[in-house]
Amino acid sequence: MEALGARVVDALGGRGLVFLAGDLGTGKTTLVRGALRHMGHQGSVKSPTFTLVEPYEINSQMVFHFDLYRLADPGELEFMGFRDYIAADTLCFVEWPERGAGGLPPPDIEVRLEYRGERRGAVIAAATARGAAVVAGIAGDGHGSAAADRAGP
Ligand SMILES: Nc1ncnc2c1ncn2[C@@H]1O[C@H](COP(=O)(O)OP(=O)(O)O)[C@@H](O)[C@H]1O
Ligand SMILES: [Mg+2]
Repeated sequence: MEALGARVVDALGGRGLVFLAGDLGTGKTTLVRGALRHMGHQGSVKSPTFTLVEPYEINSQMVFHFDLYRLADPGELEFMGFRDYIAADTLCFVEWPERGAGGLPPPDIEVRLEYRGERRGAVIAAATARGAAVVAGIAGDGHGSAAADRAGP
C-alpha cells in the first residue's frame, strides 16, 4: 500500500482530493504514509482518528489527511471548513469518506481497499475528468483496473 500511495502522488502531481474507502485495517492509513514519505516527509504519520485531520507541510506543499470515522454528522465538515482545506493547490486524503456523505465534493479518485485472503487489493475509480487521467496514470494500462498490493502481512 505504501507503493500505491507513491503512485497516487505521482499521478496526481501532488494535488487533488483522494477518497480512501475500505474496512478497518485494509491499509488506508498505510497508503497515506507511503504517499507522504514519497513526497519527502520524514516524521511519523499517525492516524487522525480523534483529531479528524492531520496537516503536513512538505517542501511548502500542503497535504491534509482526514479520517472521518468518528464524524458524527456530515454537517461538521462545513463547521471545520472542509472546503478551505481542498483549495486548488492542496492534496487531501480522506479515510471513511462515506461518513461525510453530502458534506464532501466529488473526489478526483477513490481508492477502495479490500481484503483478498492474506493480501490486500485496491480498486481505483475516477469521479472527475482529471481523475480519469490520473487513474490511467496509476494503472499504467489506461483502464484503471485493480492493482494488487503484493506486500504480505
Ligand atoms: N499488504 C498490506 N498492505 C497494507 N497493510 C498491510 C498489508 N499487510 C499487512 N498490513 C497491515 O495492516 C494494517 C493496516 O492498517 P492501516 O493502514 O491503519 O489500515 P486502515 O487505515 O485501513 O484501518 C497495518 O498494521 C499493516 O502493517
Ligand atoms: Mg486508518
